[in-house]
Amino acid sequence: MAKQKLIYDCDPGHDDAVALMLAANSPELELLGVTAASGNQTLENTARNACQVLQWLGREEIPVYAGCGRPMVREQLTAGDIHGKTGLDGPVFPPLRKAAEPEHAVAFLIRTLLNSAGDIVVVTSGPMTNLAMALRLEPRIGEKIQRIVLMGGSYSNGNVTPAAEFNILADPEAAHVCFTAGRPVTMIGLDVTRKVLCYPDIVARMAQVNTSASRLFVDLMGHFCRTQKEIYGWEGGPLHDPVTIACLLDPDLVVTKPMHVEIDLSGGPSYGRTNCDAFGYLGLPATADVAVDIDVPRFWDLIEAGLRRYAGMGDGI
Ligand code: BDR
Ligand code: CA
Repeated sequence: MAKQKLIYDCDPGHDDAVALMLAANSPELELLGVTAASGNQTLENTARNACQVLQWLGREEIPVYAGCGRPMVREQLTAGDIHGKTGLDGPVFPPLRKAAEPEHAVAFLIRTLLNSAGDIVVVTSGPMTNLAMALRLEPRIGEKIQRIVLMGGSYSNGNVTPAAEFNILADPEAAHVCFTAGRPVTMIGLDVTRKVLCYPDIVARMAQVNTSASRLFVDLMGHFCRTQKEIYGWEGGPLHDPVTIACLLDPDLVVTKPMHVEIDLSGGPSYGRTNCDAFGYLGLPATADVAVDIDVPRFWDLIEAGLRRYAGMGDGI
């Protein structure tokens, strides 16, 4: 079967890093490039972190493109409380050999999508600034995007404000551009990612795998789960971002429901909320398939299988 072509846009970020492990070494996927945006940390940090992770995994040949360092309209918002000063606090990485490409992420997105046969999925797990800017700069890429799969939003509560989830709140205008681009959108929100809590027994299970990737996973989760406990009081942090890639590997992993989704751009207390019309009150056409449930044991099996595939690879062998 043909591999699913994919561009992964992210802001690593501990959970982005785990998603990258799945995206970079799954036989079902062809990762064309990784684009980084400002989000969990500054662009300088997130682009460097993407390089660090790929180098650690022995996947240095996958290109990284640095993109937008600021949201489209609002002031910058980062998540240093969860992800630390570097955006990837916890692991100790060897000196960095890999560098980001000279091409800007937005230019890469435009070039790659325009030259494609319309067979590329764009996965985002950070603020959607890069993709939105690409859509604004070159609207013809719209029809070339096979599907957008994003980690972001919530039809219940937010995680930065009562209303808003981080990735959407960090650039609501960009999310609006992407949700209204007329392409199929799969929204993986907090409603399902909060079900995949990385408890200590999960970390212990992944430690048994004993590959470069599993060692990085354990180091990352040490920091991530500690900060989640400090802030939310949970024993394990929700492993948000890998759900996007896991969905590509197993289309039945997540149950979705078509909904009309509108991003709150009012600037008020609900700024950045994904208003999901789950019951069709508004009678408007659905604009996204919104994740409503996930097969949790299957998700952890996919993570474990992904970590196993790194046997004999990477800096951390
Ligand atoms: C999202 O916010 C970031 O901190 C995580 O990496 C994830 O993408 C969860 O709200
Ligand atoms: Ca992220």
